[in-house]
Amino acid sequence: MNVTQDIFAFGYLIATTLFIFGLKGLSHPKTALRGNTLSMAGMAVAIVVTLLRPDVNNYGIILAGLLSGALIGVPIAMKIKMTAMPQLVAALHSFVGLAAVLVAGGTYLMHVQEGHVTPLLLTELVVGSAIGAVTFTGSLIAFGKLQAILGSAPLVFKGQHLFNAILIAMIFILSAMFAINHSVTLFVAVTALSLLLGFLLVLPIGGSDMPVVVSMLNSYSGWAASATGFTLNNPLLIATGALVGSSGAILSYIMCKAMNRSLLNVILGGFGTTVEAAAADGTQKTCRSASTEDAAFMFENASSVIVVPGYGMAVAQAQHAVKELYEQLHHRGVDVKFAIHPVAGRMPGHMNVLLAESEIPYDSVLELEDVNPEFARADAVLIIGANDVVNPAARTNKSSPLYGMPILDAYKSKMVYVIKRSMNPGYSGVENDLFYLDNCSLIFGDAKKVCEGLVNCLKSA
Ligand code: TAP
Repeated sequence: MNVTQDIFAFGYLIATTLFIFGLKGLSHPKTALRGNTLSMAGMAVAIVVTLLRPDVNNYGIILAGLLSGALIGVPIAMKIKMTAMPQLVAALHSFVGLAAVLVAGGTYLMHVQEGHVTPLLLTELVVGSAIGAVTFTGSLIAFGKLQAILGSAPLVFKGQHLFNAILIAMIFILSAMFAINHSVTLFVAVTALSLLLGFLLVLPIGGSDMPVVVSMLNSYSGWAASATGFTLNNPLLIATGALVGSSGAILSYIMCKAMNRSLLNVILGGFGTTVEAAAADGTQKTCRSASTEDAAFMFENASSVIVVPGYGMAVAQAQHAVKELYEQLHHRGVDVKFAIHPVAGRMPGHMNVLLAESEIPYDSVLELEDVNPEFARADAVLIIGANDVVNPAARTNKSSPLYGMPILDAYKSKMVYVIKRSMNPGYSGVENDLFYLDNCSLIFGDAKKVCEGLVNCLKSA
């Protein structure tokens, strides 16, 4: 290694270190902003160092790529709603996958032309293309499900697991054949089968298991980038890809634990096939509705209230109204706590981010394990646009697709108020048993408007 190479290696080391500290920062809302800044600084160092490498000489094409990417990316980033972030992330993962396939294909053709092919290089190329292809199509399906272009119900067919197993075996066999005796046909065959596998792996996954899928695809996209790093002989891409790959894998594990699923169970898919059975008992159920005045009166006279935010709070952008409500009650001496379910909303930490944005104190925000014993002692619970994460069917109904998923024990409280707009079910498509319990009342309306209404009632009381 000469001095110039040492300088580049040092630049890459700085970038990787910044990424690691960036990831560490993202583990808590308090340090998340610093984490993002460090990661952006790392990316800036990585880009500058890469552009200065002697083997990078076609600046025209790079500039054209940067400009066209910025032209598409900047307006999307400016316009995107917080609630649409998961599908944007899924779409971005698909680009990483596609890039891995294209880089592997291009590098293969280039090396064949130059006559420099070794079994090791061929293995790197075929592995990179296969992981990239699975990531690409898997992420497209995830995008379709999160964007509601495809239904959130699991799509299963008979013999699906056997078919997938045969597909995986064929990918392994053809990859080994490619590494020993390469040809364009074998490369295309492995890539095509991997594309099909990506579709088939994500299609059978039901709505409530999507959090695990999003984090798993995040992990795949990291490994695809890492494989591209091997192909391009770029240590920074290898390290960065491995960081994304392993942090995505850890997140998938955390999500699985939070939902009481095994990873294998989610990957094999098919959860939720019994939805119909759960709702079809034919009994007529009734639920109560309440006015904002009734609820405000209850909250004002309570000594402890637990607020459960969910996806609906994000849709309504109600977090600032929620903060005002918190302040009104807090000033009256009511102990207000926020209960966060690990998969509430549509992305990990979704609720924490929104509550942090409205500057609700961190010490009043509690995780599932810490807050669950509190529900039975609370005078009242206010559920703001949450549904699946408070559905007692997850505890009681063995035929429900939610069965086994840990929930927030809101139903154990003396009085429960739920803000939502209709009787529509949550993301999993499962009817919520909580709404029909005697201690539960629904306040129909948009979460922001209802919270503002509650604040007005308290102010005028
Ligand atoms: P959901 O079960 O999705 O329920 C959201 C509720 O909000 C619905 O009942 C909806 O009812 C209501 N709502 C929507 N817009 C509203 C508005 N403007 N005002 C008032 N209410 C509104 O939410 P959750 O309890 O947070 O559960 C999350 C679900 O998403 C879980 O199944 C989870 O597995 C899945 N998921 C999570 C993630 C991550 S990582 N968090 C990723 C993908 C999927 P109305 O339509 O009647 O108003």
